Amino acid sequence: MNFPETGQLAPAASESLLLKNVKPYGEDLVDVFIEDGVITQMGASLEVSADREIDGHGQILLPGLVDMHVHLREPGREDTETLATGSAAAAKGGFTAVFTMANTIPVMDQPTIAESVWLKSQAIGLCDVHPIGSITKGLEGKEITEFGMMARSAAKVRMFSDDGKCVDNPMIMRRAIEYAKGQDVLLAQHCEDLRLSDGAPAHEGQTAARLGLRGWPRAAEESIVARDSLLTRDYGTRMHICHLSTVGSVELVKWAKAQGIPITAEVTPHHLILTDKLLESYDGVYRVNPPLREDHDTAALREALLDGTIDCVATDHAPHGSEEKCVEFEHARPGMLGLETSLSIIADTFVRSGLADWRWVAKVMSERPAEIVRLPGHGRPIAVGEPANLTLVDPERTWVARGEEMDSKAENTPYEGMEFHSKVTTTILRGHVTCAEGKAAEPNTV
Ligand code: DOR
Ligand code: ZN
Repeated sequence: MNFPETGQLAPAASESLLLKNVKPYGEDLVDVFIEDGVITQMGASLEVSADREIDGHGQILLPGLVDMHVHLREPGREDTETLATGSAAAAKGGFTAVFTMANTIPVMDQPTIAESVWLKSQAIGLCDVHPIGSITKGLEGKEITEFGMMARSAAKVRMFSDDGKCVDNPMIMRRAIEYAKGQDVLLAQHCEDLRLSDGAPAHEGQTAARLGLRGWPRAAEESIVARDSLLTRDYGTRMHICHLSTVGSVELVKWAKAQGIPITAEVTPHHLILTDKLLESYDGVYRVNPPLREDHDTAALREALLDGTIDCVATDHAPHGSEEKCVEFEHARPGMLGLETSLSIIADTFVRSGLADWRWVAKVMSERPAEIVRLPGHGRPIAVGEPANLTLVDPERTWVARGEEMDSKAENTPYEGMEFHSKVTTTILRGHVTCAEGKAAEPNTV
């Protein structure tokens, strides 16, 4: 049994759960018996009595999903999301562990802030919410934070990022990479040379030109992907690239990996399926950073996720209030909700279309992210003796996304009214049911 994190809640004593008629990875039909948060038996038609029984009716059983990149906004912007609402959205989306970015108010650049996020989310009990420390104090890009102190705190911070902003000074990034190597922590870079993107709201291309919007060129991302790959080659042990969005970034990551440079990369569901054509409506819900790009970018990203050039899916779940979104496009805050639609998008785009199978979904949405962040207890095989962090998916459930029906406090989904054909029905965290029949459990009050 593996409950290794300081402060992590153990499951309530002698609670047992029987999952009947489920298909691990979409393969053979079995029953799964869970006791004290651990899978203790698996097989056809188990004869056991359990405190709770869930009949899966042949649904797909996956390891609990892991998201390396979300913004849960607490502390500071609890009007848009809290640890409780974000955890409920995560549970509803099938996630058992998420990593929440450091661009909170105050910034997560101190052990105490990270500890409060970790301990509070453990008390809420719906999802393991791991705080990401910032690389620089106050996200100002000037002074590196104390990686070691945060890594050794009760929050065990294992990943650092200034996401939302790029660490643009190459010497600061070099020093951060060297320091991260010494502390054995992961850095995640938001690749955007602000001198090139100039904070523009749209992808630089024909659509932006026609709509009269300032353009954010691909090179602003790609030049940092290249620079940081080279810095990692010379000074690092591992580095992760956030939300890859261009065909050129895919080529650069492919090149870097072929050189043996230890970088990993993620892609968001929105960069896989949405393009800048949506900006024609001038609806601020489609503003995101990096921006939605063109068809040949989304095609390259999908192919790179399939062939392993891109390691995993991460949502970049970024809640914003309507006052930040229902404004002129140029003034809308960048970001989109992602937690409650991610699995459905990946399943529809890759499994329903026949491009991939459920084993692959388990890899890109659970196993690889857990491996990259070196997270114990998640992304594990579905097998006897393993922690019961699990997600049940109905592959034949048609549903329509509606912002107002989401558990997230915000409603800024770019998928409003869109129909999906697969849905998470049940999520299990260390043997506790955190989502049942598509509804998140009530968070514990803290
Ligand atoms: O679209 C985005 N929203 N991209 C980021 O990098 C930051 C995020 C946010 O915090 O809202
Ligand atoms: Zn982000």
